[in-house]
Amino acid sequence: MMDRFKDKIALVSGATSGIGLASARRIAQEGAVAVIAGHLMEHVGSTVEQLRAEGLKAEGIYYDATDIDSVRKAIEGVATAHGRIDVLVNNVGGTDMHRDGPVAELDMAYFGDAMRLNTESTLEATRTALAHMGEGAAIVNVASIGGITGDLRGTLYGLAKAAVINLTRYTATQYGHLGIRCNAVAPGLILTKAALDNLDAKVRDVFASQTPLPYFGLPEDIGATVAFLASDDARFITGQTIIADGGMLCHNPTALTIMGM
Ligand SMILES: NC(=O)c1ccc[n+]([C@@H]2O[C@H](COP(=O)([O-])OP(=O)(O)OC[C@H]3O[C@@H](n4cnc5c(N)ncnc54)[C@H](O)[C@@H]3O)[C@@H](O)[C@H]2O)c1
Repeated sequence: MMDRFKDKIALVSGATSGIGLASARRIAQEGAVAVIAGHLMEHVGSTVEQLRAEGLKAEGIYYDATDIDSVRKAIEGVATAHGRIDVLVNNVGGTDMHRDGPVAELDMAYFGDAMRLNTESTLEATRTALAHMGEGAAIVNVASIGGITGDLRGTLYGLAKAAVINLTRYTATQYGHLGIRCNAVAPGLILTKAALDNLDAKVRDVFASQTPLPYFGLPEDIGATVAFLASDDARFITGQTIIADGGMLCHNPTALTIMGM
């Protein structure tokens, strides 16, 4: 294992499971103090214990992405305790598929919540962290292919993730002169526990049939991409959104069908 984050302070939001946990673990395995930021303190505590049992450096902090005050306080708390923030991974996100349907059927009362969970929390964490970042610091936003393409539902999620992708460009543009980078990763289908529990086998087959690589993505695959973007290996990359989807969006939509895959 490399040590690209030796002695760095890295805050990962929503890091008690899935992509956030895989990202925090990978960054900690490479030497960082991983700050596990989450809203369920029991889960935060058990995640910190789990990582420490693996010999890694981890701390927890209360961070509810739907409570913007708590987002600001979490970032300020880490900056006060450590004097700086080297890496910020804005991973929290998601939607309520019962309320987030097609455009004409949207539950508009959910608009603000969807934006807060995905976009405003990312913006506020970024705004607050920037004041405590110096040359070499990096921000990585976890977006989604849902922020790049259209879909049959999850409209608000798609809008919110598209905003995260452009926030990535604005942040990169405005703070690059300080040596601070900001990139995003847009995962395709990743087999997190939630995805495994909720996803219909039929839908998984459709994803497989449209994906050139013969396997599904795992949280660790995105953790590795996040770590790369956060590390000095990516020192000349900023403002970019890396699509990590097994090639699902890279091809002419007819290609794999014609090949009979
Ligand atoms: N899994 C996928 O296929 C996939 C695809 C594209 C994008 N993503 C994105 O990846 C990110 C992580 O998703 P995941 O699949 O690992 O999901 P997950 O459900 O496994 O993890 C989500 C994490 O966020 C935390 N969380 C939820 N609400 C929160 C809140 N209000 N405040 C603080 N923390 C909160 C949860 O406790 C959990 O730790 C999300 O932004 C999601 O949109 C996931």
